Parts: sequence; C-alpha cells; structure tokens
Amino acid sequence: MVATAFTIGAAQEQARQALKGMSDSPGQQAQLILADLLDRPRAWILAHPEFILGEADKRSFGVALARLTNGEPLPYVLGWWEFYGRRFRLAPSVLIPRPESELLVEKALERLKLTPPPVKIVDVGTGSGCLGVTLAAEVPDIRLAVTDVSLETLHVARRNAREYGVDGRISFVQADLLEPLAGPFDLVVANLPYVPSSALRGMPAGRREPGLALDGGRDGLELTGRLLHSLPGKLSPTGAAFLEIGADQGTAVQSAAKAALPDADVQITRDLAGHDRVIEIRCGAHA
Ligand SMILES: C[S@@+](CC[C@H](N)C(=O)[O-])C[C@H]1O[C@@H](n2cnc3c(N)ncnc32)[C@H](O)[C@@H]1O
Repeated sequence: MVATAFTIGAAQEQARQALKGMSDSPGQQAQLILADLLDRPRAWILAHPEFILGEADKRSFGVALARLTNGEPLPYVLGWWEFYGRRFRLAPSVLIPRPESELLVEKALERLKLTPPPVKIVDVGTGSGCLGVTLAAEVPDIRLAVTDVSLETLHVARRNAREYGVDGRISFVQADLLEPLAGPFDLVVANLPYVPSSALRGMPAGRREPGLALDGGRDGLELTGRLLHSLPGKLSPTGAAFLEIGADQGTAVQSAAKAALPDADVQITRDLAGHDRVIEIRCGAHA
C-alpha cells in the first residue's frame, strides 16, 4: 500500500476535524504549531498547503494535536506565548501571559519617563517574567527585582530574561510578595492571583493553569490586599504602584488602597473591553 503524503493542508484539515466543537480557531492553532515545527512564518504555512511534512514532523504534529484535543492550552503545547511583541517561554507552573496585562507595561513605561534615575523597581509575582523582563528590555538602563513564591517559576523568568540579554539587570527573589525586600521602591508592578477560589473551580483556566497563579482566596483580594497593606513601608514617598485587578474589583481595591495610602492619588483604568483592569497608585510630587 502506498502511504499518502501528509501535507500542510492535510494537517490543517486533521486539526479542524479533531478540534471540532472544542476550538473556534482550529485552523489557526494548526498553523501556529506547523510554523513552530517547521520554523517558518505563519504566512509561509498559509501559502504552502501542498508542502509535505517529513515523518518526524508528522509525528510531532500528531503529538501536539493530541495534547490540544486533551484540553491543553495552545501556549503550553507550543511552550511559549507572545507578550508585548516578545516570545516568553512557559512551563506548566507558569501562567500564560494575557494581552490585558500589557496595560501594566504601558503604565509603567509612562511612569518611568517621569521618574529621574536611579529608579528602584519591583515586579511582584513575576511568573514567566513577562512584566519585569519586558520593562528591562524596553528601558535599557534600568535594574529591577522580580519576586515569586515559586522557585520553578523564577527559573522560567530567569531563562526568559537571559533570552533577551537582561538577566544581568534583574534580581530574582523567591519571596512572599515583597516580604524580604528592603525598598523603598519608586515603582511596583504586580499581576497577582485575583480570581476568587469559588469562581476558579468553574473556570476552564482553573483546570488548565496553575492555581498558585490564579487563586486569590475567598474574595479574590487576599494577595492584592496584603500587598496594598505592605506598601506604606515599601513605596517611596514619590513612588507609584500599578496592580492588575479583576473586572469587578475596582471599587473594593480603590477603598483598600485609599485606606493603606490616604495621601496617594488612586485611579482605576479599564481595559479595551471596558473592564476595571489596573489600579494606579501615585504618591507625592509626581501624583
Ligand atoms: C497571575 S500570575 C502573574 C504572572 C505574570 N506576572 C503575568 O503577568 O503573567 C501570579 C504570579 O504570582 C505568584 N504568586 C502567588 N502567590 C504569591 C506570593 N504570595 N508572593 C509572590 N508571588 C506569588 C504566582 O506563582 C504567579 O507566578
């Protein structure tokens, strides 16, 4: 029997069939896997449906597709995801970076333009390092600390920092929030877990991504509340903090921030979908 050639077009069709009812974009998922496997741009994959995959690539595609049909998110299957125009390596212990978190980067970059050096910066709960590494890559002369409770996660963040040549300007600290760090910091950025435990149980992400990265306790604000509470001792008198929050947490977080730092200017910014997304706390002269 003559085996039929397994082309890019056939691989995409196989993905469409296998992921029917599971994914809105099976063709796109197949294209990203093929682009990664064949080390070609996605546009090339789209333009060459007749290209025949070698045996090893065909097997690898089959393994990737099986992982997707098993419910594993595409970024974990690929082993990376894009954030602020850069690829970040992932591991099962690390949250997949979300596009809405890019708002934190934008806020931090704006703030850094107004803050005279040297600037003391920390990214709390760094995960893949997407926030801290992006800041270090975007602003060549800054140094910063990144913290996470998970050592495994810090290894991934360090690897990402190395990839972009910024590991020498970042201290990687295993810590509960800011606990061991002296401060005072001019800039604190944090995307801490903020999903209420009960809501997490009903969410697909709750089954597929690390609970340590998502679970914000009973009301979702356990870690954010603790961080806010620690800021008076850790934020410089002219410092700023930008924290990602859940869509319905703006009012509660604003009150908690005002209670912790009564003299600070506290604002909530919405994301492109119109949801509360970032709390901005500005102290002192730059407020
Ligand atoms: C929502 S993820 C964010 C990861 C990354 N900053 C991002 O934006 O994609 C939260 C991160 O906080 C870490 N984390 C959880 N509890 C923590 C704590 N008490 N202190 C420091 N980090 C913590 C988790 O391990 C996880 O990496």
